[in-house]
Amino acid sequence: MDTFSGKTAVVTGAASGIGLAMAERFAAEGMRVVLADIEEAALGSAVERVRTTGAEAIGVVTDVSKADDVAALAKRACSEFGGIHVACNNAGVFAGGLLWEESLADYQWVMDVNVWGVIHGIRTFIPIMLEQDTECHLVNTASMAAVTVMPFAGIYHMTKHAVLALSEALFHELAVTSDKVQVSVLCPELIKTGIATSDRNRPAKYSKDGDVVESDARQLVMDSITENMDQGLDPSVMADRVVAAIRSGTFYILSEDGWRDTANQRMEDIRTGQNPILMPPL
Ligand SMILES: NC(=O)c1ccc[n+]([C@@H]2O[C@H](COP(=O)([O-])OP(=O)(O)OC[C@H]3O[C@@H](n4cnc5c(N)ncnc54)[C@H](O)[C@@H]3O)[C@@H](O)[C@H]2O)c1
Repeated sequence: MDTFSGKTAVVTGAASGIGLAMAERFAAEGMRVVLADIEEAALGSAVERVRTTGAEAIGVVTDVSKADDVAALAKRACSEFGGIHVACNNAGVFAGGLLWEESLADYQWVMDVNVWGVIHGIRTFIPIMLEQDTECHLVNTASMAAVTVMPFAGIYHMTKHAVLALSEALFHELAVTSDKVQVSVLCPELIKTGIATSDRNRPAKYSKDGDVVESDARQLVMDSITENMDQGLDPSVMADRVVAAIRSGTFYILSEDGWRDTANQRMEDIRTGQNPILMPPL
């Protein structure tokens, strides 16, 4: 897809970080933008920010873990703007700690947003795109965590591996069923966003009965992410990469930094059958 102007983009997790950067970038390309997020106030500000550029934009409060919410989002986008040409399943959250200490609520929350959010997006947006029979593009936000595995972030890695696998399968399925609908998977490295404070939008149902374990390991990993956040790239770099990938029909949108070496080491461990070597990205 290489013309964007006048078309419609839907972005989940668009009130902050990478999602907001993509929404702004699509608006700059002349697209009409539907911003979706669970955080209503931040979503309102994000929509205003996009509108000040002169772009047409609406906000739809959406919990991507709920199939009905994602269906309502798509319906609203179609009724408001007449169709959906780009959809970004981007909303995501992080919780860290030791796998045997983390609560079931942590597992459920991160799975529900990071994996089920993408599943609902695929099941909702792809049929609409196929039905439209025009050039369309779906972008799933995974992470370099999808091709690597680090300790203290096991749940997050598991969910991002799932997003990558779903996206690769979708790529193959679309290749044999459509010449107009394409998919890319965005695998960011460290980006300066609100991800370290994901808990700000954690629905109460995932915190009931004090199920969240405030362990030392959890604190350590959250502190470490917060401390390193300043070294992250600006989210607009991801938006640039996404637009370039949609234009060129590129599936893998990967980082160029040390995460690549970490991923290569992991593949080498698997290839040779040796025990996993811990190689954090430099
Ligand atoms: N920041 C990084 O370093 C990094 C690296 C790799 C991948 N990612 C991925 O990028 C994506 C965007 O995250 P970000 O870094 O911009 O973080 P962010 O916290 O700035 O933005 C995430 C947005 O998702 C929203 N959200 C959370 N739960 C939701 C739900 N149930 N339904 C709808 N929206 C919900 C939040 O309100 C927030 O606005 C995520 O999938 C994340 O895993 C981030």
